[in-house]
Amino acid sequence: MLMSNFLKSRSSIREYKNKKIDGETRASILKIFEDLEEEAGGKYFNFILFEEGERVYGLLKGLAGYSGVMIESPHYIGVRLKEVNDESIINASYYAEKLMTKLSQLNLGSCWVNVKDVDKGIRAQAFGEENKNIGYIIAFGYPKAKNPFLHEPFSSRVNIQDIVFDEEIGRPISMEKLENRGLDDLFYYIRFAPSNYNKQPWRFILKNDRVILLLESSEDGKTDLMDAGIIMYYFVEMAKTIGINRQWNITESVTINHDGKSYRQIGEFLL
Ligand SMILES: Cc1cc2nc3c(=O)[nH]c(=O)nc-3n(C[C@H](O)[C@H](O)[C@H](O)COP(=O)(O)O)c2cc1C
Repeated sequence: MLMSNFLKSRSSIREYKNKKIDGETRASILKIFEDLEEEAGGKYFNFILFEEGERVYGLLKGLAGYSGVMIESPHYIGVRLKEVNDESIINASYYAEKLMTKLSQLNLGSCWVNVKDVDKGIRAQAFGEENKNIGYIIAFGYPKAKNPFLHEPFSSRVNIQDIVFDEEIGRPISMEKLENRGLDDLFYYIRFAPSNYNKQPWRFILKNDRVILLLESSEDGKTDLMDAGIIMYYFVEMAKTIGINRQWNITESVTINHDGKSYRQIGEFLL
């Protein structure tokens, strides 16, 4: 499927059939883990398959997810960082999102679940002592059939001009300029990327020959680098569709303040 179509139709799946993956699918998933870990140079993270979904759910119910709303699925994937630093978090989330795209090719739905606030003792029980520092897991399985007569809840998205700026943060960009640079579709579609609490904190500055990625800090002054890695992945994939085969450079973390808001610079992408 074209990346643009995939992005437009993707959504987090929060209800799963009570059906486990079979041996062949399990083997394919473990191979994907291996391939993606290798693609990332084996440096930053490991993916771990937790097959006893019921047990994990039982332990995390009421504790993980938004306000303790744990997502029930037949299995989960843990994203374990080898070292906790910015580069590892960005790479782990980049490749985890790539993994979720690959799961969808196996007809498997998925959803990120935040487990950061769960007591480490409980995380150790759920995932094993060596995995007690895992901050995010991925619920996955076969999506429950949707009722065709019901409108499914849809997570809204910001406008392109709310997230893309010309030369400096806050300076509006014209759609004509984006069209002339061939970037209108790219920015249209990457907005469908998932983000923590659907905050869509990504901001882009088109500056000469490059795009700079910033994350807007939330009211408590925090940014979540998971949101950076995920959007960087979709940006790279959408850039390929317009013939640009490049990667992001992670830049030194600089804070930019503008109009009462604070932004953290993450990286730049040469066009
Ligand atoms: C890092 C991250 C953590 C998330 N954690 C949770 C979570 O704990 N519970 C949940 O229901 N959704 C979680 N989500 C899913 C987002 O809420 C969802 O992607 C966003 O609302 C957009 O909706 P969509 O994915 O259906 O397009 C998370 C997403 C990301 C990227």
